[in-house]
Amino acid sequence: MSTTAEQLKKAFAEKMAQAKSLSEFNELRVEFLGKKGVLTEALKGLKNLPEEERKETGKQLNLLRAEMENAISEKITACEEAARAEALSKIVPVDLTMPAAEKLGSLHPVTIIQREIEDIFRSMGFIIEDGNEVETEYNNFEAVNIPKHHPARDMQDTYYLDNGQLLKTHTSAAQNRILRKYGAPCKVLFPGRCFRNEALDASHENTFLQMEGMMVGEDVSISNLVYFMKLLLTEVFKREVKVRLRPGFFPFVEPGFELDISCLICGGEGCPTCKNSGWVELLPCGMIHPNVLTMGGVDPEKYTGFAFGLGLTRLVMMRYGIKDIRTLNSGNLKALSQFGTK
Ligand code: PHE
Repeated sequence: MSTTAEQLKKAFAEKMAQAKSLSEFNELRVEFLGKKGVLTEALKGLKNLPEEERKETGKQLNLLRAEMENAISEKITACEEAARAEALSKIVPVDLTMPAAEKLGSLHPVTIIQREIEDIFRSMGFIIEDGNEVETEYNNFEAVNIPKHHPARDMQDTYYLDNGQLLKTHTSAAQNRILRKYGAPCKVLFPGRCFRNEALDASHENTFLQMEGMMVGEDVSISNLVYFMKLLLTEVFKREVKVRLRPGFFPFVEPGFELDISCLICGGEGCPTCKNSGWVELLPCGMIHPNVLTMGGVDPEKYTGFAFGLGLTRLVMMRYGIKDIRTLNSGNLKALSQFGTK
């Protein structure tokens, strides 16, 4: 072997034996094989050698270059692998099936009460149904006996969509569809979000929840209605609440009632929530109008039924003593998360 090749080989071997880190091997690569590296320079110097020697030394140097390149690459790969293994060993394994350590969120008070009432009614054989939020004018009004231009529409001004549909103003909008779906006899509870174009105050929101119930059968009477209403209120408030029943007009019931409860915020003395009357309208109800049954495909000669439209949002306010209805739609977690998860 030529002296140059031999010297280079020896120098390289010595330096390789000492180098340990990735950066040291990279430096060695530059030192020997870089543009101005010793081996590169030696190759450049070949042209000054006599032909015979040039050929032989050139061959040796090229072989040496390949050897050096391999040796360095091997070391670099080993260093990189060691670094990766070390990094991996530092990762704390995560068990994705573990329960969350942080406190989970809480249910909205309306959801809590809604589920309670659903449980009560389910245990009495009621089916829980869902209504649409966007409804046809027919279902919201005509099908519940409120024809076009009827003054009762004024009380339920709402948001109309460009396609002529509207945001439903009451859960009664689902009555027709449910009567058609289940026919008679049936017992159905259908909670839902309702919308009205309201001036907002402590007891009026443009978005609120109602919970409607309907029972249709051969001998359903007002006593059934009163029984279910009383049961509902005792279960929800878990105590006697003062109620009053007065006649109420809704085109889709005959006779119709308003069931009010004594305001639980002020104890009946009068406050903004009860508009200073001491009473809160909570449970409008009545016997389903024969026209509504007919439009739902149910024979009013054979069947009767009751319907009630519980103001779910109001009930929640009474149950928890929430003074302002706007709190419930506020997204204020401080206020809303105190009612427990359940
Ligand atoms: N839908 C009526 C309202 O929102 C309430 C109601 C329901 C009245 C069922 C009677 C029977 O005002």
